[in-house]
Amino acid sequence: MQLSFPTVIATLAAVFAVATPAAAQACAEADRFGVVTISPTTLSPGETFTVAANFSCAVQFGVNPEFTDYYIEVPVGNNGFEPPILLARRTLNPSSATPLLDSFTTQLPFALYFNASYVIVLDTTYPVNGTNGSPYSVVGSVDNPITIL
Ligand SMILES: *[C@@H]1O[C@H](CO)[C@@H](O)[C@H](O)[C@H]1NC(C)=O
Ligand SMILES: *[C@@H]1O[C@H](CO)[C@@H](O)[C@H](O)[C@H]1NC(C)=O
Ligand SMILES: *[C@@H]1O[C@H](CO)[C@@H](O)[C@H](O)[C@H]1NC(C)=O
Repeated sequence: MQLSFPTVIATLAAVFAVATPAAAQACAEADRFGVVTISPTTLSPGETFTVAANFSCAVQFGVNPEFTDYYIEVPVGNNGFEPPILLARRTLNPSSATPLLDSFTTQLPFALYFNASYVIVLDTTYPVNGTNGSPYSVVGSVDNPITIL
């Protein structure tokens, strides 16, 4: 079968219409793995800070977190001396009054920091359905910059 150009466009439009549920339209695509808020964002080793995450938009994109791992990383220009530092491994509490919100307080580890652009990365592990319907897990991540002094 030879598809005419308008047919292809119409088909693509239908595919995108199916792929984007109406409920997701209030949420930005960038929010699909969770929205992270860090306070304060300028930190020194030993300093206490709070990390809050909101997965309200994530679930609208079909991302239902199984695990949420938080790391300090240097994503750009890493010279090889800055391995990711694990901050916390969390799971959402489905019986909480706010099951799509998470928050924790931690201290900036006494690691050796360099003059580099650090971020706190949230890795959200979530299930998707395989081609035969059996689930498997994938990981999406979102970065938030911090300043380490
Ligand atoms: C979580 O995100 C949703 C969707 O953006 C927003 O409506 C809600 O106010 C947020 N909740 C908190 C506690 O920030
Ligand atoms: C840190 O790196 C920036 C950008 O490369 C540079 O401008 C700055 O002078 C450096 N600061 C120190 C203390 O080395
Ligand atoms: C996977 O398939 C099940 C059964 O059809 C469905 O309930 C679930 O929402 C699907 N999960 C995803 C992530 O699409």
